[in-house]
Amino acid sequence: MTVVTNLEPKRQKPSTALEDLTALVADDLARVNELIVKHMDSPVALIPQLGGYIVAAGGKRLRPVLTLAAANLCRYQGTKHQLLAAVVEFIHTATLLHDDVVDESNLRRGLASANAVFGNKASVLVGDFLFSRSFQLMVEAGSLEALDILSNASAVIAQGEVLQLQTTNDITTTEDAYLEVIKGKTAELFAAACRVGGVVADVDETVLTALWDYGMNLGIAFQLVDDVLDYSAHQATLGKTVGDDFREGKLTLPVILSVERGDAEERAFWQRTMEELEQTDEDLAHAQALMVRHNALIDTVARARHYGSLANTALTVFPDSPLRQALENVVEFVISRDF
Ligand code: IPE
Ligand code: IPE
Ligand code: MG
Ligand code: MG
Repeated sequence: MTVVTNLEPKRQKPSTALEDLTALVADDLARVNELIVKHMDSPVALIPQLGGYIVAAGGKRLRPVLTLAAANLCRYQGTKHQLLAAVVEFIHTATLLHDDVVDESNLRRGLASANAVFGNKASVLVGDFLFSRSFQLMVEAGSLEALDILSNASAVIAQGEVLQLQTTNDITTTEDAYLEVIKGKTAELFAAACRVGGVVADVDETVLTALWDYGMNLGIAFQLVDDVLDYSAHQATLGKTVGDDFREGKLTLPVILSVERGDAEERAFWQRTMEELEQTDEDLAHAQALMVRHNALIDTVARARHYGSLANTALTVFPDSPLRQALENVVEFVISRDF
């Protein structure tokens, strides 16, 4: 039974740079969306129901677009990149299903999250199904090297999420520890998504490394900005609940910088709210004010800009082309996005 009928994102947002890149791989992406629907099918109805729900809710499809763009940038002529792009989105979707359970998040892609609609148990189990299905698809793609990269990525993502769990509610968490977390839970998949595009095209190691470096630095920038948006975004535009990280006591860079730059009284505030999770209705606004006072949000975006420029430097191994230009512009999209 297939219940996925509408794959068009429900929330239309102006984002020229991402749209430009997506337009350059539009035919491939249409095929990827078909593959996603096809391989989400199962005789167990709840799987396509829940999977279809989160897939139809939209999402930027940024990671599969990166795989397609990387393969095209390497002048790949076959179709394996489409399958691998579907795998990348499956892995991403599985992590979102699990992440929303762990984070107790109720809003995703502008809709009630899958755990809010179908329950935690169903979300965890369908997430497991999507992970397992992604391994079947990697085998179908027939590249042992791609299998190596993506299976490694899925282990590193899980490791990153567990490492994050260990830093949660601990205001002594350092910027280095935070970087470890975001490299694992987010940037590794961006890097792997880019590199496998080059792997199917059989390009040499210098190019593969460049694709990896682009994805890794873009992914770090992406999560830095995500962590800023969790405090500063317009909720309806973001499509996720603002303040989730605060309520959970997640030690992201805006908090780490604010703790570092704050006085004893502020430290006591962070201890009460983030470590002991004793929070009142006014506390989120106070946390946001402290972040403004200490330039914590601005400086987190500045860090993102730094990683963004490293991403663009990596692209210089490729000759100039509309595709390379679009990938460069996506860096700016990732930094200045509001969703
Ligand atoms: C959300 O990723 C998870 C993070 C790494 C912050 P996206 O913001 O790319 O999610 P969708 O796919 O567009 O919904
Ligand atoms: C995203 O971390 C990382 C993964 C989904 C693996 P977040 O917890 O910050 O992502 P959102 O904000 O829920 O999308
Ligand atoms: Mg989350
Ligand atoms: Mg977040």
